[in-house]
Amino acid sequence: MPLGHCPIGVFDSGIGGLSILRALRAALPAEDFIYYADTANAPYGERGDAYVIDRTLAIARELIEQRDVKLLVVACNTATAAAVAAVRSAWPQMVVVGVEPALKPAALASHTHRVGVLATRGTLESEKFRQLQASLAAQAEFVLQPCDGLASAIEHHDAPRIAALCERYVGALGTLGTQAGAIDTVVLGCTHYTFAWEQIARLSGQAVRILETGEPVARQTRRLLEQGGLSRPGAAQGRLVLLSPGAQEALEAAAARWLDDDASKLARRIDPSSGFPPPPSLGAGSARE
Ligand code: DGL
Repeated sequence: MPLGHCPIGVFDSGIGGLSILRALRAALPAEDFIYYADTANAPYGERGDAYVIDRTLAIARELIEQRDVKLLVVACNTATAAAVAAVRSAWPQMVVVGVEPALKPAALASHTHRVGVLATRGTLESEKFRQLQASLAAQAEFVLQPCDGLASAIEHHDAPRIAALCERYVGALGTLGTQAGAIDTVVLGCTHYTFAWEQIARLSGQAVRILETGEPVARQTRRLLEQGGLSRPGAAQGRLVLLSPGAQEALEAAAARWLDDDASKLARRIDPSSGFPPPPSLGAGSARE
């Protein structure tokens, strides 16, 4: 099969990467996507590097070697911070796009030069994040808030817990607003948190800018596809395959909820007759199409 016709692989510890997939599909409607949610092994954010590297390499192997993806999007800040370098060195020929908290755009946008960052403990404690923060130290002060439990509450669609944790973590950032000394920009440094956007925005106040990474990642992916001559030819609507070891129904429900699709259209696009290769055999349960 010519490389352009191969799908793009996107993965996250769970449903968070759907926020990236949504932007990817809007920017690249003709592309086929395989989305892998490692739900049975989530969350990653409080687990430590060795675990996250292990899971990331297993999923990358599945998507690259068994599913023939032409480009891999690591739609997880925690996995990018811990493991994107390991993926690139294991498959040097593969085009790999990672996600990182939007510190650079936030530093540029902030007038008070104080930026709040909500992310997992794993991301905030990573060397990659420390380097990014240090490179921008002259432009803004970053107030870091690890949000233990928030990705998991979003994963389980647990509204009261999401509300309580958002209140706790946005409150812990300190004074928000546009007056001198206040945080006027908040970065959502975990792809799950996009699905708590409304709660976080309400608690932050109208004047505070909230940044996430879906659209920049989609633009970067399009650029790399074009540069590499990898774009899928033709204008037909691309297909989507959803994979999740042990939690397929929950993933399908989340996708129907968050992908701006109606469930019936989505169901047709995940039809197993879509022509993708057979299901994978990852150690952590079986995925199905
Ligand atoms: N969605 C992931 C991220 O962007 C990780 C959430 C988790 O598994 O803790 O960091």
